[in-house]
Amino acid sequence: MSKVYVFDHPLIQHKLTYIRDKNTGTKEFRELVDEVATLMAFEITRDMPVEEIEIETPVTVAKTKVLSGKKIAIVPILRAGIGMVDGVLKLIPAAKVGHIGLYRDPETLKPVEYYAKLPADVEERDFIIVDPMLATGGSAVEAINSLKKRGAKSIKFMCLIAAPEGVKEIQEHHPDVDIYIAALDEKLNDHGYIVPGLGDAGDRLFGTK
Ligand code: PRP
Ligand code: URA
Repeated sequence: MSKVYVFDHPLIQHKLTYIRDKNTGTKEFRELVDEVATLMAFEITRDMPVEEIEIETPVTVAKTKVLSGKKIAIVPILRAGIGMVDGVLKLIPAAKVGHIGLYRDPETLKPVEYYAKLPADVEERDFIIVDPMLATGGSAVEAINSLKKRGAKSIKFMCLIAAPEGVKEIQEHHPDVDIYIAALDEKLNDHGYIVPGLGDAGDRLFGTK
């Protein structure tokens, strides 16, 4: 069963409050999403493997640790996931970036894939899918299907706000994928929006609508 990690660090919660606030404009919204993505990346990389090497400090020879060359790929779900990519890259600058394009059909709320481009060495990489919202879970499940179909073996899912329905959907379809969120909200409304949520993440990030 997928594990669910809620990153309730005070800085993340503080910034998330202003991300949710409807009076926060596009520029500030974008900056805050970027900052929270960086803070979440710090937490999500906690289990990265390290190895010991020997170096010389100005004082002595010391055995000390470095990351042991894990290959990471970040995959935003288009569009809104793009807003989290640079924030994660600040901490993992050597990561490759793939893209999965999905939109929710407004009638059925089902995801429709319109684009997929991943790094060539899919099987060797640890993937972090990023998307601000996990609502019905349809987009996340479809994005994970898409990565697995192309050979991905190790996948984490990271979002700002999740609804319980979306968490359950990932757990049912992809029990091997752990979920990393900044807040677990109450529910979905009749239009598939997260309550209290933040509204339409793509529109708020890109100033559309
Ligand atoms: C939003 C969001 C997720 C999806 C979540 O994207 O960024 O990808 O909805 O909803 P779900 O869990 O019910 O599938 P949207 O489909 O609005 O597309 P956009 O990013 O292009 O605005
Ligand atoms: N997608 C969004 O952008 N917001 C929601 O609340 C649900 C899905």
